[in-house]
Amino acid sequence: MKTAILLYALLFLVSCASTKMVITPTNADVDRIAAKYPGYTLQQLDQGKTLFTTHCGNCHGLKNPASKSEEQWQKIVPRMAAKVNKKGEVLNADGQELILRYLVTMGSR
Ligand code: HEC
Repeated sequence: MKTAILLYALLFLVSCASTKMVITPTNADVDRIAAKYPGYTLQQLDQGKTLFTTHCGNCHGLKNPASKSEEQWQKIVPRMAAKVNKKGEVLNADGQELILRYLVTMGSR
């Protein structure tokens, strides 16, 4: 019985670890998207990453930024933010924009 519980705990940890392959933004990303988001900073990309990893992997694994186009993310982020905000606002418009820009930037690498 104890072994079974340990095994399940281990499986759970392994499945978590494998879904948390999150790309960390660099200055090269900032340069690459400068035309699209003028004046955008590495700090803002990092904030987007933090919000994404904190709020977007609780119900399902963290989705790959490259798995959706910009047009798709523009629709999905507000739809998912509404789920995050179900019990009170956690992600405001600024937070959603930070997540969107992080996803679009990392997805276009
Ligand atoms: C409260 C649970 C919950 C949270 C939190 C959540 N999601 Fe989801 N997500 C779902 C469910 C359920 C689905 C599948 C049904 C659907 O598409 O609405 C889904 C589907 C998705 C899909 C696939 C949609 C498609 O059309 O292919 C993406 C991408 C996604 N989520 C990204 C995110 C992002 C980004 C965040 C953070 C802003 C997030 N999710 C937060 C529950 C959640």
